Amino acid sequence: MQQDDLLGFIFEEVAKTNRETHLPRLVAFWETVIFRRGGFVGNPLAAHAKLVALTEMGRPQFDRWLLLFRQTVDVLFAGEHAGHLKSAAAEMVNVIYSRINHVVDPRFDPANPTPGPRARQAACRESGAASA
Ligand code: HEM
Repeated sequence: MQQDDLLGFIFEEVAKTNRETHLPRLVAFWETVIFRRGGFVGNPLAAHAKLVALTEMGRPQFDRWLLLFRQTVDVLFAGEHAGHLKSAAAEMVNVIYSRINHVVDPRFDPANPTPGPRARQAACRESGAASA
């Protein structure tokens, strides 16, 4: 992440992240996500919202973040937890990106539903039509 052309300077120059304190927080965060223990206490939304005023935190940045995250997981891990890590990360990308930029989370945009909600909407319409 630190060497990436799109994201590296955000850690190095904008936030001036201290790796020695940041990395243990990330370990605790992901351990809490996966195993529900790890003792992470923090506010990731606030940490990223602060950055919006200082630099670009748009879709290209989050897409790159997710690409790097997925590649790293694939190099280091395999199995059920690896899959969970990647899907949890993809969800959180949508949540953090949309909340800090005040745009609609694509998963919750009623005008543009993803396959799950689309199927539920269709089922709802059908059952409504059946009872009418
Ligand atoms: C454009 C994408 C992203 C960038 C540039 C970015 C950058 C940063 C920076 C600069 C910090 C503050 C580090 C410090 O203390 O100096 C941070 C904290 C953090 N980030 Fe990200 N981040 C991104 C996406 C994400 C995503 C998608 C997640 C979760 C899936 C995440 C999880 C965290 C966590 C858990 C913290 C620690 C918060 C805390 O200490 O309370 N980041 N990030």
